[in-house]
This record gives sequence, C-alpha cells and structure tokens, in this order.
Amino acid sequence: MASISLSGVIKDYGVVRAIHGVDLEIADGEFVAFVGPSGCGKSTLLRMIAGLEEISAGTIRIGGKIVNSVPPRERDVAMVFQDYALYPHMTVSQNIGFGLKMRGVPPDEINSRTREAAQTLQIEPLLERRPSELSGGQRQRVAMGRAIVRRPQVFLFDEPLSNLDAKLRVEMRTQIKRLHALFGRTTVYVTHDQVEALTLADRAVILKDGRLIQQGSPIELYEQPQSRFVAEFIGSPQMNMLPGIVEGDGRSVNIAGRSELLLEPIDAPRGQQILVGIRPEGFHLTDKEAGMPAAVEVVEPLGSDTMAICKIGNVTITVRLSPEHRVRTGDTLPLAIDLRKVSVFDAQSGKRI
Ligand SMILES: Nc1ncnc2c1ncn2[C@@H]1O[C@H](COP(=O)(O)OP(=O)(O)O)[C@@H](O)[C@H]1O
Ligand SMILES: [Mg+2]
Repeated sequence: MASISLSGVIKDYGVVRAIHGVDLEIADGEFVAFVGPSGCGKSTLLRMIAGLEEISAGTIRIGGKIVNSVPPRERDVAMVFQDYALYPHMTVSQNIGFGLKMRGVPPDEINSRTREAAQTLQIEPLLERRPSELSGGQRQRVAMGRAIVRRPQVFLFDEPLSNLDAKLRVEMRTQIKRLHALFGRTTVYVTHDQVEALTLADRAVILKDGRLIQQGSPIELYEQPQSRFVAEFIGSPQMNMLPGIVEGDGRSVNIAGRSELLLEPIDAPRGQQILVGIRPEGFHLTDKEAGMPAAVEVVEPLGSDTMAICKIGNVTITVRLSPEHRVRTGDTLPLAIDLRKVSVFDAQSGKRI
C-alpha cells in the first residue's frame, strides 16, 4: 500500500506554466478525484504521478520514497486512460496479461491472474475476443482488467468513462467504486465531471488554471465552498447567486431589495457588495405576503423533484421543489430563503466571507 505526496510540484511546457506549485497529501488507500474544467492541469498532474511526464520542480513521493526520476514501470502504479489504449491485434486475454508477460511472470500465473481479473470485472466470456469485437463499455472493462491484474500499489484513472453513454457511465462508476472497496488501493481519478468526482471519491481536489483551489470531502465542498468558482462548479443545478449589500453589524443583509438576517454574522462592513449563494434546495415556499416574489419561467418536472427556473428582479434562479407543488410557467412563487444554508461571497473577489 502507498501514500502519495506532492510538494511544490511545478510543470512548465516551454514558457507556459501548466502547474503552479501544487502541494497535496493522499493517504494510503484513499480515493481522491482531481476535478476541474478542461485544460486546468488534471492530466498533467496525474501523468507526473505516473512518471509519464517529467516534473519541472518540486517533489513527488509514493510510499514515502521520492520518485522524481523513477521510470513509470518501477513506480508500481497502473493507469487507465479515456481511450482504453488496447492492442488491437491481441485478444482480451492477451491484452490483460501483457503487462505481466513483459515482467517475466510465468505463463501459468498469468493465466490464473487474467482469469481472476476477468471474473472480477465480469468479462470472462470475452477473453478470446479482440477489441474490435467489443462494445465501449466492454473495452473499458478490459482496460481496467489490465490495470488490476498487475496488483499495483496505486491506481490512476484519466477520465476513463468519458467515451461511454450516460447509462454505462453510471454502471461503470459503481464498478470502479466496488473495485476500490475490494482492493482498498490508493486511487487518483481525474474527471471534468463534478458529479463523477463527488459520487466516487472520499476527497475531491478542485483545480483551476494549474492551481489547487480547494479540497475536501464531497459534503464539505458542497456546503462550504470557499469561493464563487467552487460554489458554481460543484452541484447541479448550480448554486444561485443573488446580489446583496451588507446593511449593518454583519448580520443584516439586503438581498434582492429585502432585508434578511443571516444566522451567522459575516465579517464585512456596512455597504459591502456581496453575492449570496443559495442552493436550489435552499428555498422554500412561504406566505404570499412574506415571500420574495419569483416569476416562474420554465418548469422541469424530474419526477423526484421539480425544478422551477424563475426570475427574481433580473436575476435568474433555479428552485428545487417537491413534485406535489404543481407549479406552472407564469406563476409567481412566494419564496423564503433557508438562511442556514447560504454561502456569502465578496462580490468583487469571489472569496467566501
Ligand atoms: N505536451 C504539452 N505541451 C504543451 N502544453 C501542454 C501539453 N500538455 C498539456 N499542455 C497544456 O497544459 C495545460 C493543462 O493541460 P491538461 O493537464 O491536459 O489539462 P486537463 O487534463 O485538466 O484538461 C493546458 O493548458 C494544456 O494546453
Ligand atoms: Mg485531461
């Protein structure tokens, strides 16, 4: 088993800095997701852990040992890519066993370990087929088989489900989580999909422009985003942002023309412009007189909830309602804000206050 430690890790591609000094500790057996928009440096960081990319400065340790100049095959990590990278001329069985063959493992053992991996992934009936005879989901399983058969200390995944359709993605997500529960190996999983990151990982690391912006458990990131960027990136539908002004003593704020009292005082002077972040479930319906009037523009009945896309003044918000409320386009909803659940940000800097 192995922990991973990154200290001051920098990556320059020529004059362009792709990674700006990342510090990160990943515990032995932990499942960590790197998540962020395309181009933020997720793959670069993962490839540096794998040893597929040189690091420009800093230190990477695996299992306490500095691996900066250790070649990939000696790092005891296995990587699964988005495009599977299977050998087209080999059978499934040969693809899975190839890494072991290269390491001089005896044929009998390759055979039994290949069968075991195939069993775990439920692809035994496919062992004699070639990649061209498999569906996308089956190919992805073979790629995972190739990783688990090596019994590495660390699993690295780079957007492994991006080429699959929505239903298969959910199935494979469960499969990956099951594998982690089964083997308990340190896992780093790269994705641009925040839902995938939150559902899979013990901890998500949010990257933006080559910098680590925030890390935490899925619930921490959802409930305590430290910036507007994280608030809007995590959660679907995204967090609503209502402009406001601090009225006095750090508790009274004016939100969309109404005075509200925050439950927890914020450290901001009277007159400061703020953004009040409210999740779609952070509203509820109240009396007509007391509520903030929200004009319903679009209704999305999802079965389990109904999403109402509304206008408050000129701000568009999404409100999650129970399906019992039969709201319709053109209705005006009297909304109250659940003030226990708001996040307040500095309107200028976007930082949490
Ligand atoms: N081989 C390369 N040469 C030059 N620039 C690269 C190379 N690989 C990645 N980059 C740049 O580094 C940044 C991070 O890329 P990448 O790690 O692939 O992002 P992500 O995986 O988050 O989409 C991007 O700006 C990208 O253009
Ligand atoms: Mg990438």
